[in-house]
Amino acid sequence: SMELEVKNAELRAGDQLKVKGVILHDAERFQIDLGCDVDDLALHFNPRFHDDDDGAVLVCNSKIAGCWGDEKRETENPLQKGSEVKLALKMNEDVFEVELPGGQEVQFPNRVGLGVISYIRIKGDFKLTSFKIS
Ligand code: GAL
Repeated sequence: SMELEVKNAELRAGDQLKVKGVILHDAERFQIDLGCDVDDLALHFNPRFHDDDDGAVLVCNSKIAGCWGDEKRETENPLQKGSEVKLALKMNEDVFEVELPGGQEVQFPNRVGLGVISYIRIKGDFKLTSFKIS
């Protein structure tokens, strides 16, 4: 399992974070977090592969001052353990869009109203190959 933190990023509305890597063959979960620090996240994008309730599920949430908000769950999860994936996380004024392999898109509202993402964390059962902000 890996963890990468970027602490002086500048991701704004219209910008996109592209992440490429391989999901470990025995993966339980990984996450991509966007916010201003570890306790304040506008987007926690968290694919899970053996969730107690939903099995393979895409969990999204926000975190404010260390407290999780209400989860949004997408049970249509095209991500496969052991496969290479490219994800694109697009930041808009009021919503994040995560583009998944096969064309599926998950949306999550920017509840925090955060204008600039300065903190990015990629963590979990994932082997990161590349990431790029454009
Ligand atoms: C919790 C989990 C956190 C995070 C959160 C999202 O149960 O421990 O890591 O994924 O759910 O709502």
